[in-house]
Amino acid sequence: MILVTGATGTVGRVALDLLLEDGQEVIAVTRDPGRAGLPSGVRVAHPGTVKETMGGVKGLLVSPRAAGQGLKELLSLAAGNGVERAVLLSAATVAHPAGDPRFADEFKAAEEAVTASGLRWTLLRCADFDANSLAWAPQIRATGVVRGAYADAATSPIHERDIAAVAVQALVNSGHDGQTYLLTGPEALSQRDKARLIGRAIGTDLSFEELPPERVRQAMLAQGLPAEIPERLLGSLADYAKHPGPTTDTVEQVLGRPALTFGAWAAEHVGAFRS
Ligand SMILES: NC(=O)c1ccc[n+]([C@@H]2O[C@H](COP(=O)([O-])OP(=O)(O)OC[C@H]3O[C@@H](n4cnc5c(N)ncnc54)[C@H](OP(=O)(O)O)[C@@H]3O)[C@@H](O)[C@H]2O)c1
Repeated sequence: MILVTGATGTVGRVALDLLLEDGQEVIAVTRDPGRAGLPSGVRVAHPGTVKETMGGVKGLLVSPRAAGQGLKELLSLAAGNGVERAVLLSAATVAHPAGDPRFADEFKAAEEAVTASGLRWTLLRCADFDANSLAWAPQIRATGVVRGAYADAATSPIHERDIAAVAVQALVNSGHDGQTYLLTGPEALSQRDKARLIGRAIGTDLSFEELPPERVRQAMLAQGLPAEIPERLLGSLADYAKHPGPTTDTVEQVLGRPALTFGAWAAEHVGAFRS
């Protein structure tokens, strides 16, 4: 049995489906089972009641944001209940710094907690998710343009299905124990490139209009976002505008097929971007 924290998240939800397809029994952790829309047949646990569901669990998928301050307690509970391994969704910034180091430090702390837990472990240091581009959807639908800072900032964004598929491999096969994987998409793309590829998917010319970073920050604060969000975003984009993020073939090495492209991701999400 596999316990999935962050089971309603971008990666956790897909991992859940892949685990079920693989015939695994799954416990999904969510704060709000009523709204989670989880498939039938999945056992559900609230973060506060995980303790009671640990018996029989062999693997743990750990989403640091969902585990939060309770991560060490969760891991020690797992180690004390015969759980064999933990797979951690970490971030590429641990190995390839970009932006304010305090954000990478959160992932470093989670990695240290997992590697010190006594469980077998696999660390998945993920590049930025393709799905982050869904943040552009409202303005694309409303204006047909993407406006943002650092048009030339480039990373190799990754499809959530690739992360989830690697996570499932690491959860159900011992061959990935003790490995730290840097997971990226197949190619470096600037923000301008991503806007163009979304435009291609929805059948329109979509341009990226560059704005001064301070204007973007103020607009995000005016929308009610906490200051941490523009700090995290703009700091890393500033660095990726100077040096593109890493590109690896680790997804292909682990899965035996090429990593999914951003264009494929955009084609699967046209409904979010069309008005
Ligand atoms: N986005 C990226 O580019 C990127 C890159 C590298 C690494 N990561 C990391 O990858 C992990 C997975 O990301 P994800 O986008 O799939 O999911 P996520 O944002 O971590 O959310 C997963 C689930 O965790 C629960 N959750 C969210 N915030 C919470 C909080 N403050 N306290 C308790 N539970 C909370 C929510 O579930 P319920 O509401 O159902 O409880 C949410 O659906 C995250 O830790 C993220 O930091 C993200």
